[in-house]
This record gives sequence, C-alpha cells and structure tokens, in this order.
Amino acid sequence: MATPFCATAFRLTFPPSAPVPGFGRGRARRGVVAVRAEAETAGGTGINPAIRKEEAKVVDTVLAGELSKPLTPYCRCWRSGTFPLCDGSHVKHNKATGDNVGPLLVKK
Ligand code: FES
Repeated sequence: MATPFCATAFRLTFPPSAPVPGFGRGRARRGVVAVRAEAETAGGTGINPAIRKEEAKVVDTVLAGELSKPLTPYCRCWRSGTFPLCDGSHVKHNKATGDNVGPLLVKK
C-alpha cells in the first residue's frame, strides 16, 4: 500500500485564452491543485527504506572542491549500498517499480 509522505498545494494561473481543466474556458482563471507524492517502501514508511534510520535526519555535506574525481554521482533513490554515493542500485529500483530516479552528478 502506498504511504503518503508529502502534500503540497500550488496556485496556478492560466492565460485568459487557455481552457482550465475542471473549470472550462471563460470561467475561473485561478485554481489550487493539491499534489500528493507517495512512496512505497518495504517494511516502513517514507522514502528511505534502511539508510541510517537511527538518525533523526540524514544530512551529508560535500565540499565540491575536495572531490577526488571530476564527476561524482550522489544517490537520490535511497537504495545505494554506498550512500550517499550512487552505486547503481537505482537501476534495479527503477526496473522493479517503474520509477525514473537517478543520481545527482556533482562536478569538481
Ligand atoms: Fe541511488 Fe544511484 S543508487 S541514485
């Protein structure tokens, strides 16, 4: 079952000539759309299934000038065995879930 972890409302403004989904042309030009992001994890709630769960918040700091390689991939899927670095585990996650996550590439 999907577990909601974030809900955000955005105020959208449409140009006068554009049809607005749910409002039609020539009627209301402003609307609030609620967007709910959901994550499924194995045995838990939230997006992080297992990384450093004993910490209240997982935070890492990187000084780009001190990177050993010109291009360093950082994990954004929370499945890496070398977190915070990407180890390619996002490929398996994407195949299993239909997701499209990939690393953050930090250039030196
Ligand atoms: Fe998580 Fe690559 S392993 S983004």
